[in-house]
Amino acid sequence: MLVKPVSPTSTLSRREFFWRVGRHGGAVMGAMLALDLLGRDRPDGFKLEGRAPVAKKRVVILGAGLAGLTAAYELGKLGYECTVLEARARPGGRCWSVRRGVTETEVGGEKQECVFDDGYFYNPGPMRIPGHHHTTVDYCKELGVELLTFTNFNEAAYVYRDGFPRMREREVHTDLRGYTAELLAKAINQKALDAPLTADDREKLIEYLRVEGGLSPDLFYAKKGAGNVRANGEIDAPRGYSKWPTVKDGTPSLPVDLELLVKSGYGTMLSNEHVIDWQPAMLTPAGGMDRIAYALAAKVPQVSYRTEVREIRRTSAGGVRIACADLAQGGAAREVTGDFCICTIPPKVLTKIPADFSPEFVAGLAAVDGATTFKIGLQFKRRFWEEDDDIYGGISRTADAISQIVYPSDHIQGKKGVVIGAYNFGGAAAEFAALTPAKRTERALAQGEKVHPGQYSAEFENAFSVAWPKIPYSLGGWGEWPGNSHEKYFALLNRADGPFYFAGEHLTHLGAWMAGAFVSGQRASIEVHRRALA
Ligand code: ALA
Repeated sequence: MLVKPVSPTSTLSRREFFWRVGRHGGAVMGAMLALDLLGRDRPDGFKLEGRAPVAKKRVVILGAGLAGLTAAYELGKLGYECTVLEARARPGGRCWSVRRGVTETEVGGEKQECVFDDGYFYNPGPMRIPGHHHTTVDYCKELGVELLTFTNFNEAAYVYRDGFPRMREREVHTDLRGYTAELLAKAINQKALDAPLTADDREKLIEYLRVEGGLSPDLFYAKKGAGNVRANGEIDAPRGYSKWPTVKDGTPSLPVDLELLVKSGYGTMLSNEHVIDWQPAMLTPAGGMDRIAYALAAKVPQVSYRTEVREIRRTSAGGVRIACADLAQGGAAREVTGDFCICTIPPKVLTKIPADFSPEFVAGLAAVDGATTFKIGLQFKRRFWEEDDDIYGGISRTADAISQIVYPSDHIQGKKGVVIGAYNFGGAAAEFAALTPAKRTERALAQGEKVHPGQYSAEFENAFSVAWPKIPYSLGGWGEWPGNSHEKYFALLNRADGPFYFAGEHLTHLGAWMAGAFVSGQRASIEVHRRALA
């Protein structure tokens, strides 16, 4: 198996990251519960019909994140009495937006307060929605959450590694496309490839490669300027200009050497940009990702905020008893009872709470890890990436630990802006998490300065960082399954442990996506309803 345990000391490559996030699909699904919801994200695959029975209708839901709220919302439609217990003062869990006035005290005591200007924000958790995540998109529609385009990939953004020239992503792509087309076209021309093509087809393929790669008639990419002249004589400059056109033609910029390009590794840094889950155009709610959480919470009036779960117990009658502390009342003890309990508290947090789970479920929960991931929001007093660099949304990539600079898709041409100055995983994220917030800012600025020399230092105003392993009640980003834990426990944790059900993005094939939380909440609601009717 290719899966490696997450080691906080190792730096995850982008390829590994994408692979891990996407790997919950496939074969394991065949062994899943009959419920289709684990295998697909389709609103028409979710049906919850009928009414709650008179007996067995009280459901206690632990956590007002998206999974818990979804279960409460859907069961509530059938008449179930759901009580949602939430330790934080807000809904959404990791679906969170940091804006002026947000405060957070990390495990370890570091406290931050956000002082972004009014209206500016960033999403430290989920920030983008693929258009094919139908459940998420449809809940936004049902709840009246306005969606904007999230520019996930922008050819104008930069890619940078120490010792190599900073390049626009379009330059890297154009050069790689050109050199690859040249190599392939020449190989085909010399019949060096054992391709099942007629001579005529070969000509057509070479012509395609010539156009695709911007090759000269004698099939060279980097021949000065030649590749940038179309057959009809027009100038074509996919990688941009060294001298921009005016009334006269411009001068197309020249490719970098193939050797430099290969040694820089830039191609690999950009190679996952077009995979289906991270398409160039994605979606995000206007005003922040937490708009979804608040809209859903507005449909679920029975959430008790600032209520920390302290014990999770079975009753002799087969129901549940949850002991909790009312944080708004100095921790006053409170008890909530019900027929069933849906636990959406992340496993890393849940395992710290005394609970009457069966031993195999305790082992399964203990096996699930929380991703080591980090983001920092940097407010700049001027949108230099737009004004000076023509970058409107999208992501610059760097080989430094900050890994990514995410430009805001909101407030285009606004006065100021909040850039995500680092979004990283594994060792790089652990490195930032270990620092004080002030030092994290310092490091993010120093590394970002290499991508935006002079601009970062001149325009920076303030920052707010989120190191997910240190965020109370989350203790990590999305759920991860080290070693063979997925094979061992995934199916188990999707079953009921007596009156207890578990839900969350980690229990679906849509791990690390809000869609996972939604479908998992739906699955739990179906199962509870089925059981209550039995
Ligand atoms: N789904 C998360 C992202 O897009 C992991 O970054």
